[in-house]
Formats: sequence, C-alpha cells, structure tokens
Amino acid sequence: MTTIRGATPDDAAAIAIVQVRTWHAAYAGLLPQEHLDRRTVELRTAQWSGRLQSGEEEVFVACDPRGTVVAFATGLASSEPVDGFDGEIGAIYVLPEAQGQGLGKRLLRAVGAALQAEGFQSAWLRVLSDNTPARRFYEKLGAEIVCETTEEIDGFAYREHFYGWRDLSKL
Ligand SMILES: CC(C)(COP(=O)(O)OP(=O)(O)OC[C@H]1O[C@@H](n2cnc3c(N)ncnc32)[C@H](O)[C@@H]1OP(=O)(O)O)[C@@H](O)C(=O)NCCC(=O)NCCS
Repeated sequence: MTTIRGATPDDAAAIAIVQVRTWHAAYAGLLPQEHLDRRTVELRTAQWSGRLQSGEEEVFVACDPRGTVVAFATGLASSEPVDGFDGEIGAIYVLPEAQGQGLGKRLLRAVGAALQAEGFQSAWLRVLSDNTPARRFYEKLGAEIVCETTEEIDGFAYREHFYGWRDLSKL
C-alpha cells in the first residue's frame, strides 16, 4: 500500500531524486537536453531543502511500503495574478514506474484539501502544451483551460497551457 503524507525537510533529497528522474523521462525531446542535465539531484536537493524549511508550500509525498518516496506534489499561494485564482499547483511528479496507479490523483487531492484548509478557493498550474499525457491527466481531474502563453526557456520559446480548478472542492 502506498501512503500519502505531508513532506518534512528530511525529504528534500528523496523529492529531488523523484523530480530529476521523472523530469528526464517526461521532458526528453520536449526541452533541450542541456537544460535537463543542468538540473541535477544535488541542485534540486539544495532547492528543496530551502523550500521545505520555508513552510510556504504545501508539499505531499507518496511513499511505497518500504517508505521510499515515489511521487510528490505541491501547492502554494498563487505566484502571479492569473484570472482570479488564489492558489497554485507548483509541481507534481510521479516516478515512471509508479504512474497510472492513482497516485497523481491522490496527491493532487491532498494538496487541494490542504489549500482549502488554508482558505484558498481555487488553484491554477502551468504545463508545456506538448506534454499531452499530463494535460489529459489534468482534464480527467476536471481542470479547465485558463489561457495559453509562450514561455522563453534557455532562449527557446515554448507554448504553455494554464489549467485551473475554480472550486477546489470539485477536485
Ligand atoms: C501526469 C502525472 C502526474 C499523472 O499521475 P499518475 O499517477 O500517473 O495519474 P493517476 O494514475 O493518478 O491518474 C488519475 C486519472 O487520470 C487518468 N490519466 C492519467 N494519465 C492519463 C493520460 N495520459 N491520458 C488519459 N488519462 C490519464 C487516469 O486514467 C486516472 O483516471 P481515473 O481517475 O478515471 O482512474 C504523472 O504521470 C507524471 O508524473 N508525469 C510526468 C511528469 C509530469 O508531466 N508532471 C506534470 C508537469 S506539469
């Protein structure tokens, strides 16, 4: 049985491993390889240590029966004005071998419930327009398309879709 729990600063390295492995699997061919390679486990661990200690984000992890982190998701106050949304989904990553087992849905619902408990009504997120599997996942969970935009990453222009739930209780 895989369990979902709130993350602690001790989870920084485990979250970084999930992020880097999943990121490479999902984004190879979508983003420049150099961009992927620069974001190492060491770099991500340092970033997550700071983020987890700040307490500014709701971070949940999914752990397999041995206690190994296999997925995580985060939520926070909206980092930019997006069409009336007050909350934001910061990240969601499920290791390739753990995908398709309902963990993404359980994690997103845990984040949504935590945001609601803090008083947030809604949440948006950004996704590369070419990341079709993730878009289908968000759509399956009832997210609506909020807008499309172009983001510059390492000098290249990428299309992004913003999705959102205006009522987190529907997530
Ligand atoms: C996208 C991601 C978070 C989904 O997590 P997951 O654990 O694989 O998804 P779940 O098993 O919880 O799926 C939940 C529902 O979405 C559906 N779903 C998931 N992926 C789907 C897809 N590619 N196409 C259609 N439906 C999909 C499932 O069938 C399930 O439906 P159900 O509730 O009727 O059973 C995960 O695959 C992932 O980490 N991908 C790589 C990283 C990434 O792209 N992250 C998002 C960055 S913006």
